[in-house]
Amino acid sequence: MKALVLSGGKGTRLRPLTYTMAKQLVPVANQPILGYVMRHLSQAGIEEVGVIVAPETQREVREYLRDGKRWQFKITYILQERPLGLAHAVKVAQPFLGGSPFVMYLGDNLLGSGICDAIDRFRAEPADALVFLKHVPDPTAFGVAELDERGGIKRLIEKPRDPPSDLALVGVYLFSPKIHQAISCIRPSWRGELEITDAIQALIDMGGSVRGEVLNGWWLDTGKKDDFLAANTVVLDEYTRRDILGEIDAESNIEGRVCVCKGARVIRSEVRGPVIIGAGAEIVDSFIGPFSSIGNGSRILNSVIEHAVILEDAVVDGVGRIEDSLIGRHARVIKGQGCTKALRLMIGDHSQIEI
Ligand code: TTP
Repeated sequence: MKALVLSGGKGTRLRPLTYTMAKQLVPVANQPILGYVMRHLSQAGIEEVGVIVAPETQREVREYLRDGKRWQFKITYILQERPLGLAHAVKVAQPFLGGSPFVMYLGDNLLGSGICDAIDRFRAEPADALVFLKHVPDPTAFGVAELDERGGIKRLIEKPRDPPSDLALVGVYLFSPKIHQAISCIRPSWRGELEITDAIQALIDMGGSVRGEVLNGWWLDTGKKDDFLAANTVVLDEYTRRDILGEIDAESNIEGRVCVCKGARVIRSEVRGPVIIGAGAEIVDSFIGPFSSIGNGSRILNSVIEHAVILEDAVVDGVGRIEDSLIGRHARVIKGQGCTKALRLMIGDHSQIEI
């Protein structure tokens, strides 16, 4: 079985960050989202991975993933000139996919449970498609599946006003090569994209067998700032272990599951986990509260940070309290006339802000 990872797209909902970086490379708990995706594919024993890339971000995606050896598979890059939809991405990848069944994984999605069991089931009981689903509180915001009594999918509806179930489509799908035939039958939707939901519906209408695989673990779509911060919270909570490799001075207090990476320094500060402090970062006269990630080489001086993601080489200096925030690489947030209120910020790379 092959894999197709979608790492193109525009990422408009995560601007301004995505003006200068690929959405799939924004780090969750200091690791790019694509790293988690690749780990799941590697655990599932996939040996050939096609990665859809966009012209604007392909260089950095290639630099991060390289040839895939790190995950024990081979990567082929497939350029999608314009983001014309998920089914369009499959169409562009057809020469790579050939007649092979494949798993399609959206490069900005995170799953708690991995995909090994579903792939085993797909191999044991072949179908034309197996669609990952998740019970969600508000199905009107998602593609939703209507199931028959035997777990087969009868119908898919995009953002329904009156949802037939609470089962939303997650960004992972298993397909037989029949999907190519279904894609050749569909037309672009009102937003000008070839939709994968339309292709799966076409597969059902052609008499293909399409099953649902309901996930028990968490599923996180990192498309918007608040979703992204929620993902960072869940991943920090799940994976952070106490691991102090950097330097902590005698006046600092480190409480709970805190990972202080090599070369990081914590001076006269308090850190309350789960928190990760990246390599070479400096925390001075500050408080870092739960569910925060501090990127490699960042400097937090005389500030309070809580439930926030600070990317690499950013500086936060004397700004009181920052929470629920996402701060880009090399950004500088510094004190001007003084500020006592909590700030909620979304700041792109290389920005400079004086509060
Ligand atoms: P989306 O989140 O649906 O689209 P987007 O990344 O363009 O974001 P936004 O809506 O904020 O503008 O895409 C889901 C994943 O699929 C994401 O990793 C990008 C990828 N993708 C492609 O590779 N090609 C495409 O044509 C589209 C639409 C998305």
